[in-house]
Amino acid sequence: MTRPVTARVPAKVNVQLAVGGLRPDGFHDLANVFLAVGLHDEVTATPADTLRITVEGADADQVPLDHTNLAARAAAALAERHGIEPGVHLHIAKDIPVAGGMAGGSADAAGALLACDALWDTKASRDELLQICADLGSDIPFSLVGGAALGRGRGELLTPLETGGTFHWVFAVADGGLSTPAVYRECDRLREASGGGAGAADVPDPEPSQALLDALRSGDATALAAAVSNDLQPAALSLRPALAATLRAGADAGALASLVSGSGPTCAFLAKDPEAAQAVAAALAASGTCRTVRITSGPVPGARLVDA
Ligand code: C5P
Repeated sequence: MTRPVTARVPAKVNVQLAVGGLRPDGFHDLANVFLAVGLHDEVTATPADTLRITVEGADADQVPLDHTNLAARAAAALAERHGIEPGVHLHIAKDIPVAGGMAGGSADAAGALLACDALWDTKASRDELLQICADLGSDIPFSLVGGAALGRGRGELLTPLETGGTFHWVFAVADGGLSTPAVYRECDRLREASGGGAGAADVPDPEPSQALLDALRSGDATALAAAVSNDLQPAALSLRPALAATLRAGADAGALASLVSGSGPTCAFLAKDPEAAQAVAAALAASGTCRTVRITSGPVPGARLVDA
């Protein structure tokens, strides 16, 4: 195929992020409940002589354009498996906050994979795509799958979850990102500082909350709000204390739940309905505690090819 191919990929919020002890390989076992939400990046693949990345969008200047870019790594991994040259220009239209805890980099990797598979006609099976995703990063398989899912292991072993309705969210985007490895390291440091230890023998095995899974299944936002949790939140707040004011501003404006999204620094607010989401968003925008405010909902489907 020589026509450009575009994939559209959603962001995520973690409605539960239970973090176990530090493993010998440097990762943490998780009970990670992902919900895909309606902020999207689009990745367009066009034939080219070499692998090249361009990016547009508000945060474009923060995205690496070299071989460290996850979209470039995804295209290179697919090409290598199929014994072809990774000749492709990947153009990323970025709407997901960069380094925000919403899986923007993961979305670009999943999108690049899907778009290159179509462009090169490599006909990779779903399992092969999921394996490449898992090899590249813990959150990337979910970007492909979307909807709602429980991630075990380091987050890459997915079980799809049933959802009984649409949940309305507001996201407060911070100025500047947070490094995911730094937030996990801070989580370990805080656990050690509190005297409990950070290893697998010291920390209880992470388990999904039954109340949370029930709330997702029933579509009950109030029940979901009562069950959300993020073990990385204390670490994100420790590294970025100003997030406490953002969380407070959303809670004061009537959000059912206020939490850091993944490793942050984006903060997520669950609202009762679209009108309540508008009110929370207006209050957050007026509070001066964040750079931008976004209103959206989930679950939404995972990575999809779209007509360019
Ligand atoms: O898998 P990914 O490359 O996205 O992970 C980035 C970093 O986040 C890892 O190198 C590790 O420091 C941390 N991480 C972790 N446990 C996980 C997932 C990520 O410690 N389950």
